[in-house]
Amino acid sequence: MARLSDDPHWWRDAVVYQIYPRSFRDADGDGVGDLAGVTSRLDYLVDLGVDALWLSPIFTSPMADFGYDVADYCNVDPVFGTLDDLDQLVAGAHERGLRVLLDWVPNHTSNQHRWFEASRSSRDDPHRDWYVWRDPAPDGGPPNNWISVFKGVPAWTFDDATGQYYLHSFLAEQPDLNWANPQVEAAMHDTLRFWLDRGIDGFRADVVHLIGKGEELPDLPEGREDDLVVSIDEPFTHELLRRIRAVLDSYPQHPMMVGEVYLLQPGQTVTYLGDHDELHLTFDFRALHTRWECDAMRSVIATVQTEFAEPHWPTWVLSNHDRRRHRTRYGTDARARAAAVLSLTVRGTPFLYAGEELGLEDAEIPEERVVDPDGRDGTRAPIPWTTDADHGWGADPWLPFPPDSTGKAADAQIGDPDSFHTLYRDLLALRSANEVLRRGSMGLVAGDDASAHGVLVLHRRLDGDTITVAANFMGEPARVTIEGELLLSSRTDRPDAPFDGTLGPDEAVVLRV
Ligand code: NOJ
Repeated sequence: MARLSDDPHWWRDAVVYQIYPRSFRDADGDGVGDLAGVTSRLDYLVDLGVDALWLSPIFTSPMADFGYDVADYCNVDPVFGTLDDLDQLVAGAHERGLRVLLDWVPNHTSNQHRWFEASRSSRDDPHRDWYVWRDPAPDGGPPNNWISVFKGVPAWTFDDATGQYYLHSFLAEQPDLNWANPQVEAAMHDTLRFWLDRGIDGFRADVVHLIGKGEELPDLPEGREDDLVVSIDEPFTHELLRRIRAVLDSYPQHPMMVGEVYLLQPGQTVTYLGDHDELHLTFDFRALHTRWECDAMRSVIATVQTEFAEPHWPTWVLSNHDRRRHRTRYGTDARARAAAVLSLTVRGTPFLYAGEELGLEDAEIPEERVVDPDGRDGTRAPIPWTTDADHGWGADPWLPFPPDSTGKAADAQIGDPDSFHTLYRDLLALRSANEVLRRGSMGLVAGDDASAHGVLVLHRRLDGDTITVAANFMGEPARVTIEGELLLSSRTDRPDAPFDGTLGPDEAVVLRV
């Protein structure tokens, strides 16, 4: 039986695999993935070589935003199973040396959460101040100019019964909690304790930079009314995060919290790590927003590495449940394969999104099957497990399959030396065998020093061990002056010969120097 390491910094070494449970694996044949389905695939994850899994929301929810509208933070939605199913998943994962992270949604609840139902029932209700209520502006309109995410409508909904507006940064079904109220803070800490007591290893905290809004809620500058999520960056959030960290730190399993801090300006996200007393990690979405272009990618990597220099630690994300998959954005297998090499060799904790190890593209969603309020269904398409017509799903799944689901089915790829799956498995094995890839320092060869235009070169170094990674961003071969023993290539047709400095089109290689 594998054991979890007792290193308090386990998350620096880990590769985290994001599972979108609705689309991962369906054990009960209703067309929607579930926890028992995840449990049935734990061996697949061990074989792939990841260290931790993050389950996108599984708490009780009316699903207006597919679980990011929580009606009960301390239970599992029946569509995914029961608390018992989760306990079994966690036990199975721990037995295999895998950690489990849950998605915690602290900024808002569902409008069907009992706290909000009480809050909206009357201005005198003890829960009134648990949410953000304001009087109408003098003209009767919303209290400020904020526009909510998704529908482009005001971030305020007027409640006829009590004559005030409530704030919702996202859908009207997702009212924002008022973290300035100590009762809210205490109740939310309790939700963390509930899961930590059950042995959960940490959390991904949804838009966590939004929790500490000030009292004032001033207008956003004209023309930026819908920049709400990228604009809120308040000192109070840091105070709240320090107290959240204290809750986490009081548990023996070294729980980790990675925050979705959706701020894009230089230097902003790293402040959410505090002095090792706020988040352990924060997602950085700058790489995800960068096109497949050498200088652009080099500049993002350089910026992130500088901002997250020791004692900090960066993350790396190319795909998730909110954005088009990088295989779709980059347009070719070769580029997506080279990107995989970068993902798993740059300094930092990589977050893989289930299905990227199969090279999946976004599904085409016909209009009549659209279910997400923000057009994100394509990236959430079900994982094709088998080459059968139903791809191992039994029933017609809740969303259509991605393109080429027969060729890209897991069963078709496992063991095929040229498949995406084998590339990811080899990369994960390489990472696990080479401490330098996990912990080494990183140097990036400057654009004008690189031996070839359009090639990104980086070195990882630890105790005399050096690994060099070179990624050719051009659709034609390139020559580089670096040397070393070829450990891995993203290319499927590389001749079986020592590395001679030639890179194929959009090829990335890993060399031991
Ligand atoms: C960010 C999540 O990733 C996204 O899926 C969700 O819709 C919003 N936060 C609101 O919770």
